[in-house]
Amino acid sequence: MAIDVIQTQADGERFGSLRASRALITGGAGFIGSHIAEALVSLGAEVRVLDDLSGGHRANVPSGATFIHGSILDEALLASAMAGCTHVFHQAAMVSVPASVNDPAGCVRLNVAGTEGVLRAARAAGVRRVMFAASAAAYGNEPPMPTPETAPVDVRSPYAMSKVAGELLMATYARCYGLSTVSLRYFNIFGPRQDPKSPYAAVISAFLDALQHGRTPRIFGDGGQTRDFTPVANVVRANLLAATSAKPLAGEVVNIGTGRRTDLLTTLHAIASALGMQATPQFEPVRAGDVRHSVADISAAKALLDYSPVATFDEGIAALVASVKG
Ligand SMILES: NC(=O)c1ccc[n+]([C@@H]2O[C@H](COP(=O)([O-])OP(=O)(O)OC[C@H]3O[C@@H](n4cnc5c(N)ncnc54)[C@H](O)[C@@H]3O)[C@@H](O)[C@H]2O)c1
Repeated sequence: MAIDVIQTQADGERFGSLRASRALITGGAGFIGSHIAEALVSLGAEVRVLDDLSGGHRANVPSGATFIHGSILDEALLASAMAGCTHVFHQAAMVSVPASVNDPAGCVRLNVAGTEGVLRAARAAGVRRVMFAASAAAYGNEPPMPTPETAPVDVRSPYAMSKVAGELLMATYARCYGLSTVSLRYFNIFGPRQDPKSPYAAVISAFLDALQHGRTPRIFGDGGQTRDFTPVANVVRANLLAATSAKPLAGEVVNIGTGRRTDLLTTLHAIASALGMQATPQFEPVRAGDVRHSVADISAAKALLDYSPVATFDEGIAALVASVKG
């Protein structure tokens, strides 16, 4: 049961304009990028995916998209991948907070210098708009809730810093060079193709993987911590809305979530129940630096992009479990 990001006739008309587009998706063999690629291919856009497969998988790239194997840090390859493109969806990144703490220089190279390289190439290629995968990590550990974009930036890791630097680069390229850009601060995204095997796997894919393989799911803390768990269809829709917005878009930063939060124990039980199972977690000590609660204020996304979620948490869990049941 896939969730359709096109809900109304008006959506169909708006997103239909992408049929004439040529889109580059950096990191398009990864979880979120592959869903954006799939939606664009189904809309009839010409889609290119540039991915070095350090975290993604070739099999995630939809047929109908052109796959280019390599790094965004390879300037010549990036320039040729970008040639003739109208839209760029920049998803490639070092995606893990602990990995960024272990390798801050690598994080800056890929997430900061790499993002600047994507913008420079986009400007040179005459791209119409760049959409950037920013992160709620920008808000740190104790933001007001629900968290609006006006909350202070409070970076707690090289990863969070690099994502905020990426937003500033988006705004800088808009102001200095007139390149249309927008940064979408994703909250906790989940859905099919999210990799459960990484040591830093997101909690929903880790719960699902444990339950499917008869292992005991682990919860760090009492399970009462909450997140704005956001089905990936909402992120795809936000990217399509940003790409087709008639507003000029010049470096704005907007939250993308559902505006609702769910605690971890409820999340675990929802996955188990969708699988037709019971789940008894093993509780472990709270991890240092873990945020207790997180939820997006999505009013700016509504005002700027006409964004509203197309899928609730429950619908997202049902779609995810259906995808693994086959
Ligand atoms: N998943 C979330 O909840 C979440 C939340 C906030 C922000 N984000 C951001 O969204 C984006 C996509 O995240 P995801 O969850 O799909 O992760 P992912 O790891 O599935 O996707 C990232 C992709 O980037 C590719 N990549 C890495 N380095 C590259 C390079 N040098 N050149 C080309 N490709 C490279 C990887 O191979 C992978 O396919 C990232 O920028 C991430 O920081 C994700």
